[in-house]
Amino acid sequence: MSEQPTPYGDGTSPATAPSPKRTRIHHLREMKEQGEKWAMLTAYDMYTAATFDQAGIPVLLVGDSASNNVLGNKTSLPVTVDELIPLVRAVTRSAQRALVIADLPFGSYQATAEQCFHTAVRFMKEAGAQAVKLEGGAEMALQVELLARSGIPVMAHIGFTPQREHSLGGYRVQGRGEDAQRLIAEAKTLEAAGAFALLIEMVPGDVAAEITKSVQIPTVGIGAGKDCDAQVLVWQDMAGLRTGRLPRFVKQYADVHTVLTDAARDFAADVAAGSFPAPEHTF
Ligand code: KIV
Repeated sequence: MSEQPTPYGDGTSPATAPSPKRTRIHHLREMKEQGEKWAMLTAYDMYTAATFDQAGIPVLLVGDSASNNVLGNKTSLPVTVDELIPLVRAVTRSAQRALVIADLPFGSYQATAEQCFHTAVRFMKEAGAQAVKLEGGAEMALQVELLARSGIPVMAHIGFTPQREHSLGGYRVQGRGEDAQRLIAEAKTLEAAGAFALLIEMVPGDVAAEITKSVQIPTVGIGAGKDCDAQVLVWQDMAGLRTGRLPRFVKQYADVHTVLTDAARDFAADVAAGSFPAPEHTF
């Protein structure tokens, strides 16, 4: 009797090819030097991680955006380290090539550099993350320095930082006018502290371009114009799973919401009509 595939998934990704080479932080620096732009996507589970990995996306971020894209919260603030760790683990188990970055959630790193270190270590030891990301500018220099000194690659997130939504007064573009100089100085401080990359969110394109020119580490833009070294989108935005009003910086490359809606309706209709399961689905 032939063995059946494990029902409901067996923990393996669809990958069958031999393990390809892992993206490392020095590859990202080399790409900047060569003017080669790259894309980053969020991922929160095994199938999207394996799919994006096989599509050649070199960096996957398990964002705290899991809070409001997976866990049903309204913002990124409520998600906890304990909630994110299993998602990071699923992604690191499923991506063979992509560098996997774990986002440090609100409240898990701001108090002290030591708190930040202990949280980052949890993501690396318990979930296999290869790097972490934290939000903030010059005030995070001590955190970035300790992580970098301890062998934990850290991406710093500047510009609009969603975890500070309430102190920033909502979702607003940052770095306009005179504030541009502050952002450029913060970028340099974070580079000097040891960040391997900067994520720049909702900043005028010319300011992000200036930051990108001012630092040797790669910049990853979201709503920060075309001159960053890389671009990131939340996958549900990129693939059209999320519906409704989307931020101006989002481009949808698919309509997964419609595909899933149609599939669910067709399935329900087949069940109602008695045409599923057919003989070929029956033991
Ligand atoms: O958590 C997240 O998804 C982010 C985005 C800005 C990419 O930080």
